[in-house]
Amino acid sequence: MAEQAASAPKKVRTRHFQNAKENGIKITGLTSYDMLTASIFDEAGIDFLLVGDSAANNVLGYETTLPVTIDELIPLARAVAGAVKRAFVIADMPFGSYETGPDEALHTAFRFMKETGAHAVKLEGGVRSSEQIRRIVSAGIPVMAHIGFTPQSEHGLGGHVIQGRGDQVRELLADAHAVEEAGAFAVVLEMVPADAAKQVTAELRIPTISVGAGPHTDGQLLVWTDWAGFTTGRIPSFVKQYANLRQTLADAVKAYRDDVDSGAYPGPEHSY
Ligand code: KIV
Repeated sequence: MAEQAASAPKKVRTRHFQNAKENGIKITGLTSYDMLTASIFDEAGIDFLLVGDSAANNVLGYETTLPVTIDELIPLARAVAGAVKRAFVIADMPFGSYETGPDEALHTAFRFMKETGAHAVKLEGGVRSSEQIRRIVSAGIPVMAHIGFTPQSEHGLGGHVIQGRGDQVRELLADAHAVEEAGAFAVVLEMVPADAAKQVTAELRIPTISVGAGPHTDGQLLVWTDWAGFTTGRIPSFVKQYANLRQTLADAVKAYRDDVDSGAYPGPEHSY
């Protein structure tokens, strides 16, 4: 969307997602959890920023996304929403904040919309979450759906397992149609074979966003700390690493420590 100068919106709205799909323009998203990265990604023309519950692993140091709470995510979403001028900001609804039914889901969505300034919410699940999506959308709040591998269900799914292989594609398609029918404006497909994602993308009117679902979707989304080489541990094989920020920071920090040790910092130019 960003590179199509003539049609590049000043402020990304849900209609621009739809327009991008209809015109074959790719949509680009990243996660963000703070105002510094949000402003950099926004200025670079990233179309949407997801304040993902992946903040659980990447900010708060939890093993999985399950423990993170609404109260922990709200300040992060507020920081991101407050930092952007153009990008569309989506707040992720954490595990345990919408599953009991549409009322709970709407209550959680209200909190994110009123307390953060985000433009939409995201939640996981296809058929099983469709009534929640319908209720939130009926209150005027845009919803991004998330199907395929859904990290909040990682124990139920038996770990980080690719979804939609072989006959499972029928279930994936049923989930995709259910969220579209419920009113989602876009759907994330996570860890799905490229051919299955291609079929979903062809059948849906709403845009599909790939996280490890290959090139045939309407857009791509990556967790920024993976993409920038900041994360420790295993990086999923679908991630292309565009920087090595962990090494860059480690080198800078060593140089600083050595300068303090040797007296090279602070110099006269850093002193009053
Ligand atoms: O929380 C997150 O970062 C996500 C993406 C991986 C889709 O849900």
